[in-house]
Amino acid sequence: MTKDTIYIKTWGCQMNEYDSSMITQLLLNKYHFKKTNIPELANILILNTCSIREKAQEKVFHQLGRWRKLKEKNPAIIIAVGGCVAVQEGEEIYKRANYVDIVFGTQTLHKLPEMIKQVKNKNKHIIDITFPVIEKFDFIEYPKFPGVTAYVTIIEGCNKFCSFCIVPYTRGHEISRPVDELLLEISILAERGVREVNLLGQNVNAYKGKTFDGKICQFSELLRLVALIDGIDRIRFTTSNPIEFTDDIIDVYSDTKKVVSFLHLPVQSGSDRILKMMKRAHNVKEYKDIIKKIIKARPNIQISSDFIVGFPGETQEDFEKTLQLIKEINFDASFSFIYSSRPGTPASDLLDTISIEEKKKRLYVLQNLIKQNTKIWNEKMLGSIQTVLIEGPSHKNPMELSGRTENNRIVNFEGKPNMIGHFINLKITKINSNSLRGHYSKKFNN
Ligand code: SAH
Ligand code: F3S
Repeated sequence: MTKDTIYIKTWGCQMNEYDSSMITQLLLNKYHFKKTNIPELANILILNTCSIREKAQEKVFHQLGRWRKLKEKNPAIIIAVGGCVAVQEGEEIYKRANYVDIVFGTQTLHKLPEMIKQVKNKNKHIIDITFPVIEKFDFIEYPKFPGVTAYVTIIEGCNKFCSFCIVPYTRGHEISRPVDELLLEISILAERGVREVNLLGQNVNAYKGKTFDGKICQFSELLRLVALIDGIDRIRFTTSNPIEFTDDIIDVYSDTKKVVSFLHLPVQSGSDRILKMMKRAHNVKEYKDIIKKIIKARPNIQISSDFIVGFPGETQEDFEKTLQLIKEINFDASFSFIYSSRPGTPASDLLDTISIEEKKKRLYVLQNLIKQNTKIWNEKMLGSIQTVLIEGPSHKNPMELSGRTENNRIVNFEGKPNMIGHFINLKITKINSNSLRGHYSKKFNN
C-alpha cells in the first residue's frame, strides 16, 4: 500500500506557519507520512486557515470547493480543516462543505494523526476544536533541516480583547510556554544550522513562562537567555503590543545587540477617540512615549506598525491624526487594512457608516505615505555596509544568493554557496522596488 501523503496549505499569520510546520514534522517524523507540494498527488489535504478578516475567511470555502472536485474523483481523499476559521465555525464547516472529514483547532493539531486514523476506520467526520492547556507542544518534533532562520512560538492566545479582533476567541487566553522547553528547542535549531530566531506570539511582550524551579520568567529575561545560545546571532519577535511594552524590555535594546534594530509595534490608529473605541488600552501619547524610550536605548532602530482604516465612526479628522502619527514616527514598511467586521466581536455591533469608496481612499492615502517613508529608509541604506544573513539562492536568479538585513530588506548579490548560513557584510549598490542589490568585497568582511 502506498504511504499516506499530505498536502498542506497555510494562510494567515506566522503562528499559523509555525503550527503547520509542527503538523508536518509530526506526521512525517513520527508517523512516516510523505509530503507533496502537488495536491493531486496527496490523499490527505490539510487547510490551515485564518479568520482575521472576512476575505481570509471566505477564501477557505473557495479552496474547499476546489478540493471537493479532487475528492469526487477519489473518495478516499481525506480533507482536514484547521486554524482560526475551524475554531470559529466548528460544525458550520460541515454544513457548508459536508465532504470535509476533519475539523481541528489551533490547540488540537497534535490530535490530527489520531483523527485521520479514526476517519479511516469509522468513515465518518470528526471535530475537535477544544482548548486543552497547550498540550500541542508536548508533541513537537524538530525539523532535521530547519534552514537558517526559524519561527518559535513562545506564547499562545490573547487576553486583550481589542473590540475589532477575533484572535482572543480563536486562539484562547494567553499561555506562555515554559522557558526550558523554549531554550531546548532554540538550542536544537541552532545545532542544526539556524542563526536567526523569530519569537512568535500575538503579544510576545506579555510572555510569562515558568522556569524549572517554578519562578516566572519575563519577556526581557527570555530575550537575554536566548541571546546566550551559541549560534543564534539574531533575534526578532512578532507581534508586540504597546500594553506591557515595559521599561525592562526597552532596556534589552541597550545591552543585547543580538536583538535586531527593527521593531513591529502595532498602533492601529493615531486618534485617541478611535483607540478608545477599539479598546486598545493605550493612547497616542503613551505609544509615542514608548517609542521615544526605545529610540533612546537604540538610536538607529526602525519601527513598523499595523493600521486599521475605516473603523466604525472614524471621521476624516481621526484619519488625519493617524497620518500625522505616521509622519511623526516615520514608520517603516507597515501593514494596513480596511476594518472588517468580525462576527461575535464587540465592534461588530457598532454602526458602520463609512462608504467602501471612502475606506479604500483612506487606505490608499495611508499606504502611499508609508511607501514614501519606506523609500526614504531605503535610500538611506544606499552605499552603506549592511550585515546580511545569507538564506540561500535568490528566487529571481538562482545563480545569485539572497539574504536579509537586520531591518528585513531582501538583498540579492553575487556570492559563493558556502556563504549560506553566514552573516556577510555587503555594500548596498541599488534599490529595487521589493529588494536591494548588494556587493560583496573581502575588505568589508576582514
Ligand atoms: N497582537 C497584535 C495584533 C495581531 S492581529 C496587536 O497587538 O495589535 C494582526 C493585525 O490584523 C492587527 O494588528 C490589525 O491591524 C489587523 N486586524 C485585526 N482584526 C482586524 C479586523 N477586524 N479588521 C481589519 N484588520 C484587523
Ligand atoms: Fe487582537 Fe488586540 Fe490581541 S489586535 S491579537 S485582541 S492585542
